Amino acid sequence: MQNLMFAFAALAALALAAAAPKDSDNNCPSFEPMTNFNASEMVGVWYDIAHTNRRTGLKLKCDLVKFSPDLTDPSKLEFNSFSYSSATKSVVSVAGKICSPTKKNVPDGTIAVTIPSLNVEKVEMKVLSTDYKTFAVLAVCHQLGNGTSFPKALVLTREQEPSTKLKSAAFKVLDNNKIARRTMSLTSHSKCHSYDLSSKTEQQATTLGHGTSLGGIVSLPNAAQKEAATTKHPKSR
Ligand SMILES: *[C@@H]1O[C@H](CO)[C@@H](O)[C@H](O)[C@H]1NC(C)=O
Ligand SMILES: *[C@@H]1O[C@H](CO)[C@@H](O)[C@H](O)[C@H]1NC(C)=O
Repeated sequence: MQNLMFAFAALAALALAAAAPKDSDNNCPSFEPMTNFNASEMVGVWYDIAHTNRRTGLKLKCDLVKFSPDLTDPSKLEFNSFSYSSATKSVVSVAGKICSPTKKNVPDGTIAVTIPSLNVEKVEMKVLSTDYKTFAVLAVCHQLGNGTSFPKALVLTREQEPSTKLKSAAFKVLDNNKIARRTMSLTSHSKCHSYDLSSKTEQQATTLGHGTSLGGIVSLPNAAQKEAATTKHPKSR
């Protein structure tokens, strides 16, 4: 009888396990990447106007990203992601590459981001929408080991101070992909330091690179959280 009870309990447990959602190890929201994305048209300078809260405590501002053709590989683009820390009064920059993943059946707007100095290798990023000329909305979903997901987004515009109309159109893309606006911070572009955009040298990349636009979106959230725990003003931006 005891054996039977045990068997019954085991069966019940199995039934429960089967009823649980199969995707419990991936609960990222299903982003809708755009179709017919052409990475070459991203070349040039973009200003970060909003990004998922980074809480670095570094008072980062004036974030911008420059994409350029990769002269050694036409299927890739190089980028340099710049930021300025008012806390440390210094420029931060990280360099990396984006490419279209070789996997077939991946939608067009999916790209892979590599940043060697942050040990980031081919993190999958979705281009949710862009017209290449005025705005671009990018997103990455980090699946954490404990079963929670952490979506991160980045809103880029060609102009440093875009119109309210353009900003609302871009934020609408976030809404459509269920990325809560309250998880986003607006980027300050006041009194900006000028960057040497032609430079390929990274600055403070390994230590502060997760605070930049592209470094931030591909970094796991705990990198930023750890930083926040050791700084005095974690909510300063
Ligand atoms: C992608 O954009 C580049 C630059 O504008 C252009 O030369 C190329 O023809 C485009 N590719 C496609 C497939 O449209
Ligand atoms: C999972 O881990 C993240 C990051 O460490 C944490 O913020 C979150 O609260 C955790 N969630 C659960 C359900 O434990």
